[in-house]
Amino acid sequence: MPYDPMMNLRGHRPSISYRPIKPSDLEVLVKIHGDLFPIRYEIEFFHNVVHGRDIVSWGAVDRNRPNGQSDEIIGFVTARIVMAKESEIEDMLRFDKSRSDQALVYILTLGVVESYRNVGIATSLIREVIKYASSMPNCRAVYLHVISYNNSAIHLYQKMSFHCVRRLQSFYFINGRHYDAYLFIYYVNGARSPCSPLELVTLLMTYVRRGLKLVTARVWKKGEKSPKRFKYRDKGQLLPMTQNMRSITIEGSESDHV
Ligand SMILES: CC(C)(COP(=O)(O)OP(=O)(O)OC[C@H]1O[C@@H](n2cnc3c(N)ncnc32)[C@H](O)[C@@H]1OP(=O)(O)O)[C@@H](O)C(=O)NCCC(=O)NCCS
Repeated sequence: MPYDPMMNLRGHRPSISYRPIKPSDLEVLVKIHGDLFPIRYEIEFFHNVVHGRDIVSWGAVDRNRPNGQSDEIIGFVTARIVMAKESEIEDMLRFDKSRSDQALVYILTLGVVESYRNVGIATSLIREVIKYASSMPNCRAVYLHVISYNNSAIHLYQKMSFHCVRRLQSFYFINGRHYDAYLFIYYVNGARSPCSPLELVTLLMTYVRRGLKLVTARVWKKGEKSPKRFKYRDKGQLLPMTQNMRSITIEGSESDHV
């Protein structure tokens, strides 16, 4: 019989729905975060989530869950709106820098309780975030950090077409050890990185053309004593890789998820 992850829940078939996180979710939210993450978030963070103070969030519930748990959260995503100009990914965005209202959505935490994994709940939660970000005309991207060993999360973001744009050395400091992080971005509302693949190809073509011109110029001037060199100033720039190296202690922080 083929494996059906939907039936791996003590015999009942779940009916997953998504809703905003509300004050009555506080206790469960604190518990799941404690179970899923190697770091402790301050209680203030959870209060901000459930009251929607500067944080947007979605919870997943299983409407068919027995024992009065049909409204209990089994998955969540929390995010915050940040100003593009103040973010660490300003250089990864191509936008009108004179417009100060450009925003980004930064995913703070994402998690699904173990027995409900691999049925697409995290995918749906991230889709909610993307839909939300896309609905804000001034929003340019959704972004997040993930610890470098979290393969399931990395696989998920790649599958959802997030771009991994940086590896940040020793970004996390957990229990006395440093860990690298990856920075993932999902562009919305037509935004893109300063150098798209097409631009890279165009840039490459420009170099090739310039190279050919240089060769041609030298061939033409061959008879002269001192051949004039074909001069050009290269203003082309490949992907800006100026890393905002930042080593943070995440204990009690609400700014980065792992
Ligand atoms: C990462 C996490 C949120 C994924 O939740 P989920 O609801 O199981 O995710 P989905 O079902 O939407 O998709 C999971 C995808 O990842 C894949 N996946 C799951 N576990 C994996 C693993 N250990 N290695 C590689 N891929 C894995 C699944 O196969 C699926 O991809 P597919 O559709 O191509 O098969 C969940 O594992 C979790 O809560 N982990 C602990 C907290 C955490 O790490 N949060 C993310 C912080 S960045």
